[in-house]
Amino acid sequence: MKATAIAPANIAFIKYWGKKDDALRLPLNASISMNLSSAYTTTTVEFSKEYNTDLVEGAFTPKEIQRIIAHLERIRGRAGVTLKARVMTKNSFPKGAGIASSASGFAALTVAAAGALGLKLSEKELSILARLGSGSACRSIPDGFVEWEEGQSSETSFARSIYPADHWDLRDIVCLVTSKQKDVGSSSGMENVKTSPLLDKRLAAIPGRIAKMKEALKIKNIQLLGEVIEEDCLDMHAVMQSQTPPLNYWTDETRQIMDAVRQWRKEGLSVYFTIDAGPNVHLICEGKDEKEVVRKITEIGGVREVIINKPAKGALLVY
Ligand code: DP6
Repeated sequence: MKATAIAPANIAFIKYWGKKDDALRLPLNASISMNLSSAYTTTTVEFSKEYNTDLVEGAFTPKEIQRIIAHLERIRGRAGVTLKARVMTKNSFPKGAGIASSASGFAALTVAAAGALGLKLSEKELSILARLGSGSACRSIPDGFVEWEEGQSSETSFARSIYPADHWDLRDIVCLVTSKQKDVGSSSGMENVKTSPLLDKRLAAIPGRIAKMKEALKIKNIQLLGEVIEEDCLDMHAVMQSQTPPLNYWTDETRQIMDAVRQWRKEGLSVYFTIDAGPNVHLICEGKDEKEVVRKITEIGGVREVIINKPAKGALLVY
């Protein structure tokens, strides 16, 4: 009873920040993302009566291990088994790179564990199950460009593909910055979202942004897409920064890259930034501009590494 799955991380173009139900991980708003080709998790899960406890291998904190075991419990519950499991996980990107390892991690864990137990689940059911492990993980199940509809219940809150990975040759060039910001994970960071006076305004703007983004994806308009991406990124960070206690994920390098991107646009390069719960900056552009963007990044100090991503397929059971 063993299976291996690969799942991509994803970058949110419209962000998930805040839950309306903590236990069910129901989001306050819908979100849209793109799966990432160079940032993925490979997970093997083996259930066996040989194990009398769950064994989670890898560099996880006790809290992370608890969360992984709680997810195994959920999947065992679904299958009606009590067998313990061994979990082996490998990321294609360094942990702490500021790429949401919880999205690829819980998507891969869900697909591998369900596969090992022989559960025949639809993409929708897998997305719902992955969401219970980590919200953004539900978006790493379907192919390519994905929308997570917020839903009003567990059954109605899942992600589906809007367009396959080969719909549009976009890039997400992740700039890993040198200075380290104090870590506040997204789960705990978003617990205080309702203390922000800016939250309601952001939530009211989301449906309009979702509509604009879908239009941008449909007509493949990088300018329209990029404008909405930046607007929602800045709005989410304004919410974070106005929470009590305030949550600031940016460093000097983050701001420097944001300024540079704005300058490059003035010079005619169509590139836009977005930032998650960390200091690293994701640069979104079309494939034709990849080389020029990468060249320009090397001119800025403070970038330690770049990871170049194309749109990718969703989670896959590999064997
Ligand atoms: C800023 O999915 O990590 O990356 O549901 O508590 O596990 P939990 O949160 P998580 O939050 C991701 C937040 C974000 C924005 C996004 O990916 O949409």
